[in-house]
Amino acid sequence: MKQVLWINSCMRGAGQSRTLELCRTFLEELRVRRPGLKVAERDLTRAELPVMTAELSRRREELAAEGREDPLLLPAREMARADLVVVGAPYWDLGFPAALKVYLEWACTLGIINTHCVAAQGLDIRGNDPEAILREAQERAARLAAEI
Ligand SMILES: Cc1cc2nc3c(=O)[nH]c(=O)nc-3n(C[C@H](O)[C@H](O)[C@H](O)COP(=O)(O)O)c2cc1C
Repeated sequence: MKQVLWINSCMRGAGQSRTLELCRTFLEELRVRRPGLKVAERDLTRAELPVMTAELSRRREELAAEGREDPLLLPAREMARADLVVVGAPYWDLGFPAALKVYLEWACTLGIINTHCVAAQGLDIRGNDPEAILREAQERAARLAAEI
């Protein structure tokens, strides 16, 4: 494994996003285990990609067929280049942030053969201990980084 693509849809950012903390634990452990690993971040918190439309989809096909380099082809290219894709996805409104869905439509994630999920659940349920839940998820993330 040489190239990691780290897809950051942790909209609330550092200091607030617990998903970001979880991802950082995983990535730090991975870096320790695999010196020389390259990690490229796709920051979705700025939501720069347009929503996919039929016209844009056609445009993307044309650009690809012409062998052109274009920012609209970057998501698919970086996904294809990555040996490992790490997705930071907070649970929002029974799903994940819209910017991640937009990105996935641009990236077209075909060809991914193996997936792992590390989730910190029930963080905002009254009576739960969010620090303990997050810590336990971070331990699982660190173990996964060691095993992967
Ligand atoms: C905009 C927003 C929507 C949310 N929607 C849900 C939800 O539908 N169900 C749920 O169980 N928790 C929901 N939550 C709680 C989050 O999953 C929880 O606060 C989590 O820590 C958010 O991830 P983050 O800390 O990485 O930002 C929501 C939080 C936010 C800020």
